Amino acid sequence: MTHIKIQTPDDWHLHFRDGDMLNETVPATARCFKRAIVMPNLVPPITDANMVVNYRKRILDARPSDNNFEPLMTLYLTNDTTREDIILAKEVGTVAAKLYPAGATTHSDAAVKSLEDLYPIFEEMQEVGMLLLIHGEVTDNHIDIFDREKEFIDRHLTKIVASFPDLKIVFEHITTKDAVDFVLASNDNLAATITPQHLLLNRNDLLAGGIRPHNYCLPVLKRGTHQQALRKVVATGNKKFFLGTDSAPHEKHMKESSCGCAGCYSARSAIEIYTQVFDELDALDKLEGFASHHGADFYGLPRNNGVIKLVKEDWIIPEQIILPNGNTVVPFLAGQKCTWKLKD
Ligand code: DOR
Ligand code: ZN
Repeated sequence: MTHIKIQTPDDWHLHFRDGDMLNETVPATARCFKRAIVMPNLVPPITDANMVVNYRKRILDARPSDNNFEPLMTLYLTNDTTREDIILAKEVGTVAAKLYPAGATTHSDAAVKSLEDLYPIFEEMQEVGMLLLIHGEVTDNHIDIFDREKEFIDRHLTKIVASFPDLKIVFEHITTKDAVDFVLASNDNLAATITPQHLLLNRNDLLAGGIRPHNYCLPVLKRGTHQQALRKVVATGNKKFFLGTDSAPHEKHMKESSCGCAGCYSARSAIEIYTQVFDELDALDKLEGFASHHGADFYGLPRNNGVIKLVKEDWIIPEQIILPNGNTVVPFLAGQKCTWKLKD
């Protein structure tokens, strides 16, 4: 196949950041996605309705004038979140709340230390119809970083899913065969997002032949067998799995550091990389479901009007992007060839 048209897709998980950075990240996503679930891990995090409303406005202010991109807002859960916070956030249109175990990733220090204490909040979310988005990793120092997702499933997710059968839960950016199997075996109110990096790469791409900080994200890339499980399941077209880029920019000096930040900035090439992966899998007919249908259906939102077109054409992802503040971001797969290209 040399070109493909799909209904306009959405990105069900990304990080826009704030301030000047929005002038880079919002247009980069709005070039092909109609909507995006916007993560709330700012400093300070988005923990109440007021903050949601103001952040949404800042994002809309950064949207190109001829574009109708729509940010879908999320609330950051802490052990101080109240039922009232959920009700008020819902009233201003917040679609989901994000659970970060404290210390799991970038800007998560303020997050949830005791998960069981949040059960009344999950109950409220179930009642008002707000989705729960989970960063599914335990954070205990003694648990090996490659085992943290599985440990989270065994210790927490199994119990949450069983306790709240009517709560829609997205297991975010899954990275293991264990997660794939768990989602497949659970009821229809559990789904998962998958990033381009976890489909395309495994931990050799992070560590073999030198440390590659621009491939470092959390949850960390896993061994090839897990990557293969993710690839296999998206190629089946199963509706429980959908697109979430986890595009997460960090300035170059923060990534190329003795203690580098986690996150791959993929917004400028994500839809193209997903298309390349589905092509490699001989499953281009499953791309539209993954990118444009399954997420909207799971969230209970209408599918988009319009289409985007991609053509099979080589191009080189830029080595770097200069931000509005003059600093640099190295995009995901910088300097590498991508075999599909978005056409206007
Ligand atoms: O790699 C990641 N980067 N994983 C996350 O969960 C957070 C994100 C970020 O905010 O940088
Ligand atoms: Zn994320």
